[in-house]
Amino acid sequence: MGCLFLLLLLLVLQYPLVIFSSHLCRRDESLVLQNLKLKLSIDDSASADCESNGYFPYPKTLSWNRTTDCCTWDGVTCDKVTGRITRLDLSCSQLHGTIDSNSTLFQLSHLQNLNLAYNDFSPSQISSKFGWLPSLTHLNLSRSGFSGTVPLQVSYLSKLISLDLSAGIEELRVEPHTFKMLLQNLTQLRELYLTSTYISSSLPSNLSSSLQELNLVGTELSGKIPDDIFHLPRLQMLNLGSNLYLTGHLPTTQWNCSNSLRELDLSSSGFSGNIPDSIGHLNSLRKLDISGCYFSGNIPLTIGDLTELTSLQLFSNNFNGQLPSTILKLVQLVEFDISSNNLTGNIPNIFGNFTKLKSLSFSYNLFMGLFPSSVTNLTELESLDLSNCSITGPIPSSVSTRFPNLILLFLPYNSLSGEIPSWIFNLPSLKYLVLRGNQLAGQLKEVRYNLLEVVDVGDNKLNGPIPTSFSKLVNLTTLDLSTNNLSGGLDIGLFSKCKQLRRLGLSFNNLSVFSSQKDASLPSSLGSLYASSCNIRELNFLRAAKYVGNLDLSNNNMHGKIPDWAWSNWQISVSYLNLSSNFLTAIDLLHNFESLYNLDIGSNLIQGELPAPPPYCSSS
Ligand SMILES: *[C@@H]1O[C@H](CO)[C@@H](O)[C@H](O)[C@H]1NC(C)=O
Ligand SMILES: *[C@@H]1O[C@H](CO)[C@@H](O)[C@H](O)[C@H]1NC(C)=O
Ligand SMILES: *[C@@H]1O[C@H](CO)[C@@H](O)[C@H](O)[C@H]1NC(C)=O
Ligand SMILES: *[C@@H]1O[C@H](CO)[C@@H](O)[C@H](O)[C@H]1NC(C)=O
Ligand SMILES: *[C@@H]1O[C@H](CO)[C@@H](O)[C@H](O)[C@H]1NC(C)=O
Ligand SMILES: *[C@@H]1O[C@H](CO)[C@@H](O)[C@H](O)[C@H]1NC(C)=O
Ligand SMILES: *[C@@H]1O[C@H](CO)[C@@H](O)[C@H](O)[C@H]1NC(C)=O
Ligand SMILES: *[C@@H]1O[C@H](CO)[C@@H](O)[C@H](O)[C@H]1NC(C)=O
Ligand SMILES: *[C@@H]1O[C@H](CO)[C@@H](O)[C@H](O)[C@H]1NC(C)=O
Ligand SMILES: *[C@@H]1O[C@H](CO)[C@@H](O)[C@H](O)[C@H]1NC(C)=O
Ligand SMILES: *[C@@H]1O[C@H](CO)[C@@H](O)[C@H](O)[C@H]1NC(C)=O
Ligand SMILES: *[C@@H]1O[C@H](CO)[C@@H](O)[C@H](O)[C@H]1NC(C)=O
Repeated sequence: MGCLFLLLLLLVLQYPLVIFSSHLCRRDESLVLQNLKLKLSIDDSASADCESNGYFPYPKTLSWNRTTDCCTWDGVTCDKVTGRITRLDLSCSQLHGTIDSNSTLFQLSHLQNLNLAYNDFSPSQISSKFGWLPSLTHLNLSRSGFSGTVPLQVSYLSKLISLDLSAGIEELRVEPHTFKMLLQNLTQLRELYLTSTYISSSLPSNLSSSLQELNLVGTELSGKIPDDIFHLPRLQMLNLGSNLYLTGHLPTTQWNCSNSLRELDLSSSGFSGNIPDSIGHLNSLRKLDISGCYFSGNIPLTIGDLTELTSLQLFSNNFNGQLPSTILKLVQLVEFDISSNNLTGNIPNIFGNFTKLKSLSFSYNLFMGLFPSSVTNLTELESLDLSNCSITGPIPSSVSTRFPNLILLFLPYNSLSGEIPSWIFNLPSLKYLVLRGNQLAGQLKEVRYNLLEVVDVGDNKLNGPIPTSFSKLVNLTTLDLSTNNLSGGLDIGLFSKCKQLRRLGLSFNNLSVFSSQKDASLPSSLGSLYASSCNIRELNFLRAAKYVGNLDLSNNNMHGKIPDWAWSNWQISVSYLNLSSNFLTAIDLLHNFESLYNLDIGSNLIQGELPAPPPYCSSS
């Protein structure tokens, strides 16, 4: 007896943690969780959103086994001393079902941190019982299918530090009074995320000064933003984008958050006015997005003081004047877009030191000058858009990087001249190449890699043959070569592996389009074919293209009558049909053409009565 006691005492002294922790979980709370698990089912599609946001969904509750300590269950954390469940993280757990006011969840009265994000609890409403979990500091119901109205009781959770009720596709409303209480009465609240909920009131003033992150993207907010929002002393993130009816200006003097603000996003809202010089005080700012607003005036010199910026989005405003030279100090930038403004002066050639830049666009401005040679040093570049910038002269023929990551290269609608340099045909990641509307001459070169999906070099001065290596572009959707001086025979068999091809533009070259193999055809994915002036004699190469909508076969060499199989294919899908300037002698009935709205059969050899065009068609 004494021996046994001694042994037990020894055990307790030596392994106290083992003995206590194996009985950590409270039986009643274990039952609560088991009951919760029973009421919910597992559904792969319930956390589909989760993956697209960079998380890996899996059913956490599957591992919940009542023979083990519930404090060890996936997603469950208990208080070390009391054994009470303090944290439940069931985010991205593929849960489907209803959580209403009868749910056992609300018996977990010591919960401090509850995360149910990225599940599907539709059509549940957010129960007012959430307001009776008084210890909650963190509540996250983001994209979890709850709809209806956010209960006022959530604003009773006076210890809340973080609240995320962001909605997905379901409609979740926040009444004006509840909204005001959340912003003013939760004096500990640091993070408030209500993305895509339906608020539809104005932002109150006098917000809780504890706020650090405010995300109200796409919430139908309206009215003028209160100035004091920029005075919140601890504000780190202000995200009010996609609120068309929300108006306001940037403060010209005081930003009390100038040391803390890291992210300011007012994109696609009704903000207007100038960017004030005071913007330069935001010395922690990493991300500035005021695109798609009504800002105007000059971009101030002080923008160069924002040396921490990694993302600067100023596109689609009314900025004018020149881009300030101080921009060259923003060498941390990863994304920079000032397109669709009214900026003038020379195209800035200041990017040599922007070694982190991945995406650069200053398209659609009133710039002028040469191609900015400094971008040719940017090894990380993924996207370069210099569309419609009045750039003259050649594209640099030598580059100091091979642009291993460049996916998109847009240079259309400039006055670029000279040849297309060979490095452009050797970009290993390139998918989108658009050079339309320049003065580029010389020949197209063979492509080395096969990722290209869009190639548009139309409206230039290119000559020579179409490279045979285009045949390996299996993901090609658009190829536009029209209005150049390309020459030679184009055997349609070249496109036999291009099963995604939707748009093919060949018009106005010196090409002869033919098919050497009888059954070679453009794929059924084809939606538009522009093949005017291509010496086409027969149409067998269109046999598989049954859903084509726009078809320009004008000024070719077609004689007699369009074959019946073609005519019956086109009846279903064609809306634009140009057969003019051929040698056709007859046209079949048109009344079955369901979507035809533009027909041209002029300059042929048709005799006798023309068939009546379908009702909505303009014809010539
Ligand atoms: C629960 O755990 C016991 C013992 O480890 C095991 O035999 C049983 O299969 C488990 N049940 C489930 C559903 O995982
Ligand atoms: C909760 O349970 C009670 C009794 O079981 C029932 O009458 C009530 O309708 C339930 N409430 C909800 C919201 O399902
Ligand atoms: C809510 O949870 C989701 C998923 O874990 C997470 O992505 C999101 O950042 C959380 N919200 C807040 C405000 O922390
Ligand atoms: C505001 O919060 C306090 C405690 O934090 C509470 O007593 C008061 O009732 C709340 N006011 C409203 C209108 O909810
Ligand atoms: C602003 O809020 C504080 C505390 O939340 C309160 O004392 C004060 O009266 C409010 N002022 C206005 C103008 O609402
Ligand atoms: C903002 O800063 C000014 C000057 O430092 C100060 O007077 C004012 O009280 C501050 N406002 C807030 C809301 O902290
Ligand atoms: C752009 O500037 C021109 C003159 O410089 C002006 O006529 C035009 O209205 C401006 N457009 C916009 C969108 O600001
Ligand atoms: C690039 O940085 C170096 C050193 O940091 C500096 O000397 C040079 O002037 C900078 N170049 C440009 C174009 O800003
Ligand atoms: C490109 O980088 C090299 C060295 O890294 C430098 O000598 C050259 O001046 C840079 N070119 C441009 C246009 O910035
Ligand atoms: C290029 O931009 C100018 C003014 O910004 C505009 O007038 C013109 O239509 C644009 N060209 C194309 C092809 O979009
Ligand atoms: C074509 O696209 C598919 C689907 O996006 C992709 O899996 C495949 O790798 C692509 N092939 C090439 C050669 O780019
Ligand atoms: C087009 O190419 C042909 C040779 O294929 C050449 O004779 C002609 O001059 C070129 N036309 C133009 C406008 O460059």
